[in-house]
Amino acid sequence: MSGQNPAASRKTWNNRWTFMLAAAGSAIGLGNIWKFPYIAGQYGGGAFVMVYLLCIALVGVPLLMAETAIGRSTRLSPLNAMRKLTSDAGVFRGWEVIGWMGMLTGFIILTFYSVVAGWALSYAWDLLTGVFTGMNADQVGGEFEALTASAPRQILWHTLFMAITVFITARGVHKGLEKGLQVMMPTLFVLLFVMLGYSMLATGEFMRGFHFMFDVDFSKITGEAVVAAMGQAFFTLSLGMCALMAYGAYMPANNSIPRTALNVAFLDTLMAIISGLIVFPIVYAHGLEPSAGPGLLFVSLTSAFANMTGGAILGFMFFALVGIAALSSAISLIEPSLAWVTERFGINRVLATCMIGGAIWLVGLGSVFSFNIWADVKFFDKTIFDLAGYMTDVFLLPLGGALTAIFAGWMLKRSVMSNELAMSVGMFNVWRFAIRIIVPAAVALILYTALK
Ligand code: PHE
Ligand code: NA
Repeated sequence: MSGQNPAASRKTWNNRWTFMLAAAGSAIGLGNIWKFPYIAGQYGGGAFVMVYLLCIALVGVPLLMAETAIGRSTRLSPLNAMRKLTSDAGVFRGWEVIGWMGMLTGFIILTFYSVVAGWALSYAWDLLTGVFTGMNADQVGGEFEALTASAPRQILWHTLFMAITVFITARGVHKGLEKGLQVMMPTLFVLLFVMLGYSMLATGEFMRGFHFMFDVDFSKITGEAVVAAMGQAFFTLSLGMCALMAYGAYMPANNSIPRTALNVAFLDTLMAIISGLIVFPIVYAHGLEPSAGPGLLFVSLTSAFANMTGGAILGFMFFALVGIAALSSAISLIEPSLAWVTERFGINRVLATCMIGGAIWLVGLGSVFSFNIWADVKFFDKTIFDLAGYMTDVFLLPLGGALTAIFAGWMLKRSVMSNELAMSVGMFNVWRFAIRIIVPAAVALILYTALK
């Protein structure tokens, strides 16, 4: 065991809950709390939600298992994992493009993710300091416009978020993550339930929100809605960009991958559904529109916090925890590139994190300016912020996921995956069918629809 093989020196997370916590930390974030309600709102609710749930079950869960298994079988960074597996299997080296794409996709996502996380931090601060107290929904909406219209204000919070991300990431995945998440994730859960209670009992519109989310109007299942639902399924489970491959490399050999994958998918879905059930009743109670767009979460919840007893403190805690949930996702967005850069160049983790984080920060300014000075700068009719989201959701994540599925299902020897997944033969065959046929076919259909 020499320096030849980085895997030999890589430690695993010894606690069996740590992988679960890290994977759930990656999955649960702005995707659930901010993005899910706003996209579901834009595509009209129930029909979108139904397609989304199907994508999670049929595409998401099998792929979650495949990515984790690839990471754990090699214990290398995603790019080197792909290199080792292609050479072991004696297949075309080009498959390592999965590793390259993963790094690129994580980079692009974090450029806009950090800006939105910055909004959450800004809201936490403004709620705490009483900026919103007593405001009506119109005034709260005006404040959202004011924040996004101001480049300096957004840059401040974007910078703070990236600085915290770099600081925590530089300390190392083991030390940095574990302790914080053990406390924060359960607290976020409790707070979401408190807000759910509020939506049920205090808005008087709970059933209307409920019906919006679960009544399926089949005429609303358009090609565009299906594309968005599938993109959201990838995004929310952190799939298609090697994040879970990178984390899988640290997973203890005796943890069950299928069980962990099911748990993560379940928790993530639960969080998204609860967020929707919190947001939509409040939206109706304050006369807002479900289709309001990226400001939906911020304007609706803040309107509620502004007018409830203890709203300043509760609102502060809520948005601070959203920021922390975003942080644990952000760390996983950097991890694939960081793991590779440190393996490849042997440079110190702190320096590498600062360089990657700095580049993301810089490109992220494009997203900040999308709402103000560059609002008219458009590519394919989209601002930089919208384009970054569209490119990753519609192309990069599904494509990365499909390539990973084809690789795991068709290129690798059956035994490589069956050893890692350790399922009964029957269940393994079900998984293999999904990974070989369903995932690639679903993605092909989506890409065809999107490009048509
Ligand atoms: N899954 C995260 C969320 O829902 C976002 C993310 C996407 C994180 C891809 C890592 C990789 O907020
Ligand atoms: Na998520």
